[in-house]
Amino acid sequence: MKEKIEKAVLVGIQQQGEGSESLQELQDLVRTVGAEVQKVFVQRIRKINPSTYIGKGKVDEILQYIKENDVDIVIIDESLSPGQESNLQTIFELPVLDRTAVILDIFAQHAHTKEGSLQVELAQLHYRLPRLVGSKKYLSRLGGGIGTQGPGETQLEVDRRRIRERIGHIKEELSQVRQHRELHRKKRQEVPLPVISLIGYTNAGKSTLLNHLCKKDVVRAEDKLFATLDPTTRRIILPNKQPILVTDTVGFIKKLPYHLVEAFKATFEEIGESDLLIHVIDGSHPLFAEQAETVLKVLEEMKFFHKPILHVYNKFDLFQGDRERFLKNPKLFPSLLISAEKNINLDELLLKIQDMLPHIAEEITLVLPLDEKAQKTRAFISEYGKILEERVENEELHIKACVLKKAAEYLRTRPLQQKKN
Ligand code: GTP
Repeated sequence: MKEKIEKAVLVGIQQQGEGSESLQELQDLVRTVGAEVQKVFVQRIRKINPSTYIGKGKVDEILQYIKENDVDIVIIDESLSPGQESNLQTIFELPVLDRTAVILDIFAQHAHTKEGSLQVELAQLHYRLPRLVGSKKYLSRLGGGIGTQGPGETQLEVDRRRIRERIGHIKEELSQVRQHRELHRKKRQEVPLPVISLIGYTNAGKSTLLNHLCKKDVVRAEDKLFATLDPTTRRIILPNKQPILVTDTVGFIKKLPYHLVEAFKATFEEIGESDLLIHVIDGSHPLFAEQAETVLKVLEEMKFFHKPILHVYNKFDLFQGDRERFLKNPKLFPSLLISAEKNINLDELLLKIQDMLPHIAEEITLVLPLDEKAQKTRAFISEYGKILEERVENEELHIKACVLKKAAEYLRTRPLQQKKN
C-alpha cells in the first residue's frame, strides 16, 4: 500500500502520424499505480534531443509548471536512456520515470506468486543497474511511490556489485522454481484434458471470467490493470460433461518492455501449449479495437497466430444496444458478446468452446482382450471422449470412440491399451 498519492505530470510524445492511444494508456497505467495525473503535456517530435529526449522549449514549459504547482514526479511516455533520465531529473529536481519504469512497477505490485515476484525483480534490477549513477538522490524517496515497488528502497541504495550479486541469486532461485513448475506442467500433461488460455489486453476481464466460469473466487479480480501475473489454471466442466483446463494469463499491453518479455518467457510458453485461445476484449473501452489489435500483434510476434482462437467481447452490460459495431469487425469474427461479471452469455460461451473442441479430438478404434485393463480403458475413454460404437466379439472388446487428441496420444503411449487397430 502506498502511503501518499503522488501527483504526476505526464509527458506524451507524438511522432509524426501517431495517435494518442499510448498516452491514454499511460494515464490508465499511472492511475493503476495509485498516482494522480495532475497535468498532461504533449510534445510533437520530429527530432529527438539526445540529452533530454524532449525539446528545450517543452522542458522549459514543464519546468515552469513544476515551479508553480505541487508536483511529485514527472513521467515520460517513452523509454528514456539512463543519461536522458538523469539529465531531466537534474533540471526538474524531481524524480523522472519513463514508461518502462511505470509498467515494471505495476507488474511488481501485482506479482502474486514467488515466480512472478522473482521475474519482476529480475527485470527491475536489469533496468535499474545502468541507472544507479546520478539518480540515487531522486529515487530514494521515502514512503514508496511509482518506481519504488518491488526490490524496495535498500536495493536502490546499494552499489552495482551488490545488484549483480542479487541478480545472480535471483537467477538461481528462479531456476529452482522453474524446475518445480516444470514438474507440475508434466503432471498436468499426463491428464489429457484440453487446455484453454484466456488471453487479452490488460483489464479486459480475464480473471473475472475465470472466476465466474469456476463459480469460485480463485483469481483476484481488480479494477486495475495487470491484476494477473501468474497463469492460474482451473478445471471446469462443459455442458456435455467434458472437463477442460482453463488458464488465466498475464495481460497484454502496447510496447511491453523488453525486460518483461524476457522475464515472462516461461509464462508465455504456456500459452503456446494450449489447445484453444479465448481472446477477451473489453468491449466497453473506447480503444477496444486498438487493444485487440495489440493483442493480435503480440500473438503474431510470439508465433501463436496459428492457434484456434475465439474472440469474445466482455463487459456487455456496459455497452448493450451497441452490438452491431462489434459483430462487424471481420478480423475478430466469429465473436460473442458476454459479461463475465453479470453472468451474461456465459453458457453460450461454454457451448462455443464445446463446439470448437472437436477440432482437437480424433476418432480411434481399439480392440482389447476382455480383462481388467479393458474396463479401465473403457472408463478412461468415457471420461475423455465419447464411445461411438462398442461390441464384444471373440472374447475381445471392440470400441470406436471420439476422444481428445491428447487422450488418443495417451492411449497410444500408455499400457492401458492392449492392442490398437
Ligand atoms: P489483468 O490482470 O490486468 O490482465 O486484468 P484482467 O483481464 O484479468 O481483468 P479483471 O478480471 O481483473 O477485470 C478488470 C476489471 O473489470 C474489474 O474491476 C472487473 O470487475 C471488471 N469487469 C470484468 N468483467 C466485467 C463485466 O462483464 N462487466 C463490468 N461492468 N465489469 C467487468
